[in-house]
Amino acid sequence: MGKRKVRVAVIFGGRSGEHEVSLASAASVMQAMDKDRYEIHPIGITRSGRWLVGGDPMQALQSGVAERALLGTGEEARDSRGGLVVGARGALVPGMEEVHFPDVDVVFPVLHGPYGEDGTLQGLLEMADMAYVGAGVLGSALGMDKVAMKDVFRARGLPVAPYVHLLARDWRARPEEWVARIEAELGYPCFVKPANLGSSVGITKAHHRSELERGMEEAAQYDRKLLVERGINAREIEVSVLGNDDPEASVPGEIVPSNEFYDYAAKYLDGKSELLIPAPISPEQTRRAQELAVRAFAAVDCAGMARVDFLLCRDSGELYVNEVNTIPGFTAISMYPKLWEASGLPYPQLIDRLIELAIERHEERRRLRSEYPGARREG
Ligand SMILES: Nc1ncnc2c1ncn2[C@@H]1O[C@H](COP(=O)(O)OP(=O)(O)O)[C@@H](O)[C@H]1O
Ligand SMILES: [Mg+2]
Repeated sequence: MGKRKVRVAVIFGGRSGEHEVSLASAASVMQAMDKDRYEIHPIGITRSGRWLVGGDPMQALQSGVAERALLGTGEEARDSRGGLVVGARGALVPGMEEVHFPDVDVVFPVLHGPYGEDGTLQGLLEMADMAYVGAGVLGSALGMDKVAMKDVFRARGLPVAPYVHLLARDWRARPEEWVARIEAELGYPCFVKPANLGSSVGITKAHHRSELERGMEEAAQYDRKLLVERGINAREIEVSVLGNDDPEASVPGEIVPSNEFYDYAAKYLDGKSELLIPAPISPEQTRRAQELAVRAFAAVDCAGMARVDFLLCRDSGELYVNEVNTIPGFTAISMYPKLWEASGLPYPQLIDRLIELAIERHEERRRLRSEYPGARREG
């Protein structure tokens, strides 16, 4: 007669370009979860934003059944409408009608990029008063917007590579002025980025003016907000952080990209980038990276987990905080869980800890709310 199982909804797929990565991460998470402790409720989201609840949403998304079912409904296109529950207007996938959002104790969003890692889903879960793994609305939103994130890092005294930010419309209106300013303040090489994507999509390295101009046009196709950063001759160091208000840092790891920088192909396509765990850096650099990782986590109001990525300058030895990822890649061979494993916390226990942290944080928020003194009625 064991305790009641903890009911966990694992959400995956979604509308971002990282749909497949999310499926891979979520499949690993569900596989590793202890079935004696957890009752798992898988929830899939199609590329068009339709939610699949009940049945086997992972299979429906991996096999393409769900996407095919949407063909001809006018909803397969990217500009389709979404919806929270499938089945309200008939079954999308056989066996998936008549479903409700499951009654669960905690939600584990395993969604990378926009519409999942960016605070939108977190806002929905807050509205529904549900416990969920990972950062809240603010931390998620700051983690997704590279300009807002760097502004906060800078305000908190964290070292970041020098940058310039602008709107795509500013660029279109006065490209010569921006080129002059970027050349004066940053020089070449520099990195041009859309503020709001992930997986290196839309990011280019500019070695000279015409590449800068092309890079701006490229990035402007993805976002209205753009960021240009000084190119650091860098090694890429990453640290996993775990906890709520008293977070801990893992041993650092190093990524050795297979391309000139860690672009989309190097991340997902050629499989040739290497992970070095622990990173071959000095004890001092290790300590510094861990300290900065915890400060960066707190600066953007993260919770539960985040992977903090650094650029370690080969020339000066200086560490720059590059970004936080609030829902990092989570397959069993991804950097985030690998770093915890190397720090003594195996993958299944990492999942246990994340679920505990989600419940703790939710309970803490509930306590705060119940003490709200304005609940007195007028009259
Ligand atoms: N300022 C920079 N200097 C050197 N390399 C950079 C810089 N900014 C980005 N890069 C390279 O581009 C990659 C992707 O940039 P990043 O800001 O991490 O975007 P994403 O959120 O898409 O991962 C980094 O992993 C690194 O290889
Ligand atoms: Mg990155």
